[in-house]
Amino acid sequence: MDKKKKGRILSGMRPTGKMHLGNYVGALENWVALQGSYENYHLIADYHALTTNLNTEDLLDNTLEMVADWLAVGIDPQKSPIFRQSQVKEHAELHLIFSMLITTARLERNPTLKEQVKDLKMETIVYGHLGYPVLQAADILLYKGNVVPVGEDQAPHVEITREIARKFNTTYGHVFPIPKTKLTTFARLPGLDGNKMSKSVGNTILLSDNEEEIIQKVRKAVTDPQKIRRGDPGRPAICLIYTYHKRFNAAATEVIYTGCTSGALGCVECKMKCAAAISEAIAPYREKRRYYAANMGKVLDIIRAGEERARRVAAETMRDVRDAMSLG
Ligand code: TRP
Repeated sequence: MDKKKKGRILSGMRPTGKMHLGNYVGALENWVALQGSYENYHLIADYHALTTNLNTEDLLDNTLEMVADWLAVGIDPQKSPIFRQSQVKEHAELHLIFSMLITTARLERNPTLKEQVKDLKMETIVYGHLGYPVLQAADILLYKGNVVPVGEDQAPHVEITREIARKFNTTYGHVFPIPKTKLTTFARLPGLDGNKMSKSVGNTILLSDNEEEIIQKVRKAVTDPQKIRRGDPGRPAICLIYTYHKRFNAAATEVIYTGCTSGALGCVECKMKCAAAISEAIAPYREKRRYYAANMGKVLDIIRAGEERARRVAAETMRDVRDAMSLG
């Protein structure tokens, strides 16, 4: 059956804990949709997490909370192994070899790194942070991934992966496919303050939030500042609640649009409708999520089983690499 599939996908995420709607819309939904037609490997980038946070105390918890959400939204671990980068030693091995195939000047030009340094106001970075895309190249190429579904910010990393794959192939012989980036379509879901939804900003709606929590959060969200009371005409185009309606309440967007622009619909009522729609959209995942949250031991078992499978593929690729390089 796998032979009929179009190829292999490598998707990855740093273990950031409970997933929010931005993760869902920007990544998970895509992963679930693709698992039917591709062979999909789901990587937990726990080594990458160390580039910006050396504290490992919460790493396992954050991993389990994240994977509980992956499973709840429908990632099928039978079809699509889920595994931690740190538990497959070949990641470290291939990263070392790849680090010889790219210059530091090239890595210093990485726009994603530059942005991160600016956002986090970092004065210096560690050596491993500069090499972030080199490790990511190892993640992708160890599984000979053909397609990498990512948000825009990660596209430069896949470009570096392609360069490294080409460099390896021309230097030692053809071992790696040249993977393609698959950009997510609805990549940017704004957070409750209008900025990008992000855990570190604290502007998220979580997949695990219940209806009451969603209502409380949505009530506090910013809307069009010119629409102060019902009767005032609003501007949906600049309102993040309208963006949520478009995404989670598609059937009602026209009515919402007309109500908002005419002024007939007040923001409070509009937010209530929005919260209800979001809650309903994620309701199917809630029960499954609760099951996994109560059985984190099972989640860990699923990850360990994924690691067994990942190790087999990774070891095979490393044999090809060693053969090509005449190592050993
Ligand atoms: N760098 C990615 C992010 O921050 C996570 C990641 C690590 C990844 N390895 C990967 C994504 C391999 C795709 C493929 O989101």
